[in-house]
Amino acid sequence: MSSSAEKSFYLTTPIYYVNDAPHIGHAYTTVAGDVLTRWHRQKGESVWFLTGTDEHGQKVMRTAEANNVKPQDWCDRLVEEAWKPNWKALHIANDDFIRTTEERHEVRVQRFLQGLMEAGHIYEAKYEGPYCVGCEEFKLPGDLIEGKCSIHSKPVEMLSETNWFFKLSAFVTPLLERYKNNPETCEPTSARNEVISFLEGGVTDLSISRSTFDWGIQVPWDKAQVVYVWFDALLNYATAVGLGDPVDSEGGKQFARTWPADVHLVGKDILRFHAVIWPAMLMAAGLQPPKKVFAHGWLLVGGEKMSKSKLTGIAPSDITDHFGVDAFRYYFLRAIPFGSDGSFSWEDMSARYTSELANDFGNLASRLAAMVEKYCGGVLPAVAQDATLADALSKTVSNADVAISTLDFQGGINSIMEFCKRVNGYVTEKEPWILAKDDLRRSELEAVLYNTAESLRALAVLLHPVMPISTEALWISLGAEGTLGKLSDQKISEVANWGQLQPGTTISKGAILFPRLPDVETNG
Ligand code: ME8
Ligand code: MG
Repeated sequence: MSSSAEKSFYLTTPIYYVNDAPHIGHAYTTVAGDVLTRWHRQKGESVWFLTGTDEHGQKVMRTAEANNVKPQDWCDRLVEEAWKPNWKALHIANDDFIRTTEERHEVRVQRFLQGLMEAGHIYEAKYEGPYCVGCEEFKLPGDLIEGKCSIHSKPVEMLSETNWFFKLSAFVTPLLERYKNNPETCEPTSARNEVISFLEGGVTDLSISRSTFDWGIQVPWDKAQVVYVWFDALLNYATAVGLGDPVDSEGGKQFARTWPADVHLVGKDILRFHAVIWPAMLMAAGLQPPKKVFAHGWLLVGGEKMSKSKLTGIAPSDITDHFGVDAFRYYFLRAIPFGSDGSFSWEDMSARYTSELANDFGNLASRLAAMVEKYCGGVLPAVAQDATLADALSKTVSNADVAISTLDFQGGINSIMEFCKRVNGYVTEKEPWILAKDDLRRSELEAVLYNTAESLRALAVLLHPVMPISTEALWISLGAEGTLGKLSDQKISEVANWGQLQPGTTISKGAILFPRLPDVETNG
């Protein structure tokens, strides 16, 4: 092939069921994806970030029916009134949004299926067994607790249908080889081990069509059947970027730029679909499996997975109305190691908001602006450099980059916030308010102010992927846009180059980045 365009860093979130509005579990995944893709953009990479909605199948169909609405109308309403506005409110910068009811998806799913049929990976057989509509999953006896789905705690339904089957069992050996030889393809380690033992336990072929309802994509050679919703849904990652289109078409070029996906970000509830079925489907079609499936943990309520169906879902706006969008984006990634489960606690969030965001970060910005105003008439003094701070910054940048690039968001944010603490310590130790009383120490005073401003410049860039709103306000208050350009264009690799802010720039006070929280009633 001639000069092909640069491969993009391609990241996806699950496509969420539109049986209800988003809760903070969905936001957790999507915010993590947004932070990681923003970080990669600031590394100067070309990035493609996809999210979307999963609209077919019985779960969505039954919800629509229960609300006396046609499934398509139900989906249109939920997508436009709940899902898209929610991502916009959380400042999610996705490049595309795919809906499985879109024609671009349906056409490519049918073509893919036809290809597998012609290649001999599909056959007709009878399926008999338990099915959980909540999971949209064929269950094994070991998945059930007293006849109920262990995730949804609801009785499963018994199916008996003649369906089309995908020869999933043929891919057990290549999948096992993949996970044993390339550990980075499934993370964290606990997730990979689970997948390996599942594969070693033996895998049966998968029914990939249903005949008892019609809310789905028609099987191209059998009009009486619709494609199994998971087979349809998993393909979104590839249909959204032009799967199967001619090489020279727009779709074909986009596929070449994006495939294979770099990271499929998922919750551990849907790990097997992504680490077993999906790569097998791709292998069958002669396509490369994704470079990494990362399964994060669950947000828990009362020790159980927060969920729509158990009515324990907390809406993101319940939290953002009180703490703001930036604090929401920050809190979950900062408080819970990515990969582990974590409980949401109003008290813990308040405590971190106050100590880390309002006191450590927000106060540093307001102190600096107040001191530059008071001692220098609001104008940034000459360039100075403190070797210890500059050195700490270099280390912070490389630690944060390693951590965030490997999806250790907590580790990355911690190292950035440690630097913030250190700058506060520097100001306290240098006592600029004392220096200001002595004319002979004027240059010392100015150096402290410049070094603090430079440190804040670096913090704005490093925290921008996590907290796009407050860092933007800080960038404006530092007067940086005029000389350094847009905040989102600042490169991670250049953050540690000391001395970027221009002396003579006006530093303005601006709004308080993290205002004191209004008093709120909590239930203890
Ligand atoms: O499974 N904690 O959609 P879904 C953390 N349509 N993350 C959570 C969570 C919680 N309590 N609850 C939900 C589906 N999530 C399919 C996906 S992909 C081809 C098809 C997040 O609406 C987490 O990412 O049930 C989880 O995997 C996903 O939402 C499930 O969303
Ligand atoms: Mg679910």
